[in-house]
Amino acid sequence: MERELAMEIVRVTEFAALKSARWMGRGQKNEADGAATEAMRRMFDTVSMDGTVVIGEGEMDEAPMLYIGERLGLGVAPEVDVAVDPLEGTDIVATGQPNAITVVAVAPKGCLLHAPDMYMEKIAVGPKAKGKVSLGKSVRENLEAVAEANHKDISDVVAVILDRPRHEKLIAEVRDAGARIKLIPAGDVAAAIHTAFPDRGVDILFGSGGAPEGVLAACALKCLGGDIQGRLLPEDEAQRQRCIEMGITDLNHILTLDDMVRGDDAIFSATGVTDGDILDGVRMLSKTRARTQSIVMRAKTGTVRFVEAYHNLQRKHGWED
Ligand code: FBP
Repeated sequence: MERELAMEIVRVTEFAALKSARWMGRGQKNEADGAATEAMRRMFDTVSMDGTVVIGEGEMDEAPMLYIGERLGLGVAPEVDVAVDPLEGTDIVATGQPNAITVVAVAPKGCLLHAPDMYMEKIAVGPKAKGKVSLGKSVRENLEAVAEANHKDISDVVAVILDRPRHEKLIAEVRDAGARIKLIPAGDVAAAIHTAFPDRGVDILFGSGGAPEGVLAACALKCLGGDIQGRLLPEDEAQRQRCIEMGITDLNHILTLDDMVRGDDAIFSATGVTDGDILDGVRMLSKTRARTQSIVMRAKTGTVRFVEAYHNLQRKHGWED
């Protein structure tokens, strides 16, 4: 994939963020998500690629756009897999809380795991702890490993965990091991990314969240040099069947970063919708001007760019529609 594709992809996440941010704090998460999805779909029409959605808004019969299998882009080379989460953190936007982002990842065709819509147990760390943690180890062992890798006492290690009743036991184990915890209301893609920024105050992500979000986080961490592992958590027979169709018969099977994102040619872009730990949210500067902050990265080169864009909304195609 040519490096120019990264700059085309950031335009997609920017437009989705601009549109969904208008719904911040209005208590209408579906509208916020719909605005991001429509904007993203529209902007993809201008991107020079021949893309197929492998992680999207659902199956063809359940999502009007950005559904799995949908073709995106101008239909010219390169042929790519596309993973999207038009609005990661719909509740966050509806309530105006931090760290909602719009997310797109692309990789050469066949390189992204077609993660089914079910939960995935995850563990994610930044570059220093790459290769040191595993879902096959206990919570305490992983915390000790990340403490050593990040040159900290275990009491200074911070685990970021989605605040859910299903994580009660995990939270108790982290506390027993003597580490600290940051509980978040939603948004484990952003949280996984934060583990790769030592000054953002989190060392390791634990817990279960969406499997599609796991692959998006894997794309980001591949670019950042971090690490992630996932274990699919099917909850009924249909989901178990889905795992078997993917060739996963052992439900303890651990998916590595390379299982989720093959090769080293991924591009990842996220734009802040609400203010967050590494990205500001959309700022309306006047009736016609807005500012966005995005992170756009390439795994091939490891270049991580923060893109601050000032938009003239009067001249932005499709803004008033
Ligand atoms: P939405 O974008 O659909 O609101 O989901 C955000 C999210 O918090 C993800 O980051 C996470 O993987 C998943 O939901 C967790 O699911 P649940 O809310 O069911 O625990």
